[in-house]
Formats: sequence, structure tokens, C-alpha cells
Amino acid sequence: MIAGHHGLVAMLTDRIDAEVLDAAPTLRVVANYAAGYNNIDLAAARARGIVVTNTPGVLTDATADLTWALILGITRRVGEGERLVRAGRWTGWAPTQLLGMDLRGAMLGVVGMGRIGRAVASRANGFGMRVVFTARRPMPDVDPDWRAASLPDLLATADVVSLHVPLTDQTRHLLGPDQLAMMKPTAYVVNTSRGSVIDEVALADALEAGRIAGAALDVYEREPQVHPRLLSSERVLLLPHLGSATTETRERMGSMVVENLLAVLEGRRPPNAVDE
Ligand code: GLV
Ligand code: GLV
Repeated sequence: MIAGHHGLVAMLTDRIDAEVLDAAPTLRVVANYAAGYNNIDLAAARARGIVVTNTPGVLTDATADLTWALILGITRRVGEGERLVRAGRWTGWAPTQLLGMDLRGAMLGVVGMGRIGRAVASRANGFGMRVVFTARRPMPDVDPDWRAASLPDLLATADVVSLHVPLTDQTRHLLGPDQLAMMKPTAYVVNTSRGSVIDEVALADALEAGRIAGAALDVYEREPQVHPRLLSSERVLLLPHLGSATTETRERMGSMVVENLLAVLEGRRPPNAVDE
């Protein structure tokens, strides 16, 4: 479909590889409708002189909010409660029914202190959570109460581990069997980044063995497929990749995509070129 075209607007579900790029020798820009761009072969684009752009910043708050929906949802068993009511199995208030975990005083572990990680950490203050984080580089300007740590240190201390790294060769299966084993058995993992940052089989194993308390996921290794062992677990809260899904945010992303696309086609510098 892109043969003969100059610009391509790509969704995160479109894999843009060398084969696709070679189908359009006239192509000058791939404007991704997403902040993440792991769906695009950057090296292949660069080799062909094709500019790649993304939509950072405009979806930060929406994604941070959804992360908190997941944090609250998994620690207070919102999914389980809703299923109980809808199934007609709720028999009334009971003192020990569906008990969750208090957030006040608990430790939030933010893996990846980019824009979204920071926005998630900022919201932690409102819930009285303490914050420990990992970052690729020193962060002099973050809240002094937030503690920088190594990943093993974060995993050993956090009550909620929330992932905010891009998917790269370095972060694929960042949480595997060894890392999940470092977590507290009472801790939860939350993922609004990319599914493959977690090894889903290792996650299912950890949940079944009771090595962690639960997981709340917005993203999966093979979307729209969800691993059957995660689907069948009561201790997992599942959403269909909704991180940036608000009307306002999706409109802003759309405008940004168009600006980036037109800038390249008109010979200007696009506001959001991806260059690594
Ligand atoms: C959504 O997942 C995005 O990267 O924008
Ligand atoms: C709960 O509804 C309470 O009043 O404690």
C-alpha cells in the first residue's frame, strides 16, 4: 500500500521493517502514532535516509493516570470485586472479604525515570507512598525524597514495581525469573510500558508459585493475545493497552503526527525526530 508514497503514519501495531521500507523507495518519513517506537526498525530507516518521529510528552499524564488505575485496581482487588458482583456471587459486606494492601507508607518502585516514570512518581505523594527508582543517568532534579537504586535493590524493597522503560534489546525480559524472585512475596508488578519488558511465562510461574502477590498489565508480549496462564489467574488485572486512551490525548497525538509528517515533507526539521 505504501509503494509510491512519501510519508507513512504508523500505529504501534504496524511493524515497519526493512521489507516495508523497501516497498516505498520514495518514502521520507515514518510518523509513529505512539511514544514508543519499538515497532520500527530504526537502523533500516536510517540506512535509507528515512526520518522516524514519535509522540512524546502529550501522553505522559494519561499514561501515568492509567498506571495509577492499575496500581489501585490490583492492590484493592477491583477486578476481582467487579467480577464477584457481576457474577451474582456477592453475598454482602464481610470483614475479611477481598482484603487488599494499604498504599500509605508502602514503597513504589519506578523502573525507568523518563517522563512517564516521573509523572507516576509525582502522583505517589498524593497516596502517601514512598518512591524508589532506577534511571539510566543521574537525576539531580527529582524530588529529594525519592531514592535512586539499582534494579535488584528496587525489586527487593518495592511493594509495587511499575515499569516505564522503552522496549529495547537491553530491556527485553528485564523482569525474568531471577528478577521476579528478588521481589517480595507481597509485592505487585504493574506494566504500562511494553509487554516484552516482562517474561510472561516467568511471571505466570511467579504468580502460580506465590512468589509475588499479583500483576496489573496494560501491555503484552503478543498483543492482542494474552498468555492463557495470565488470563486464568485471579491475581492479575488485565487491560487492553489503554495507556494513552483519552480523547484529549489521542487528539494531541494526532496533531503531533501530522506536524511531524508535514515538517519532513516540507523540508523542515520535525519537532519529534527519533534519533538514538
Ligand atoms: C503507547 O503504547 C505508546 O507508546 O504511545
Ligand atoms: C465501611 O463502609 C465502613 O463504614 O466502615
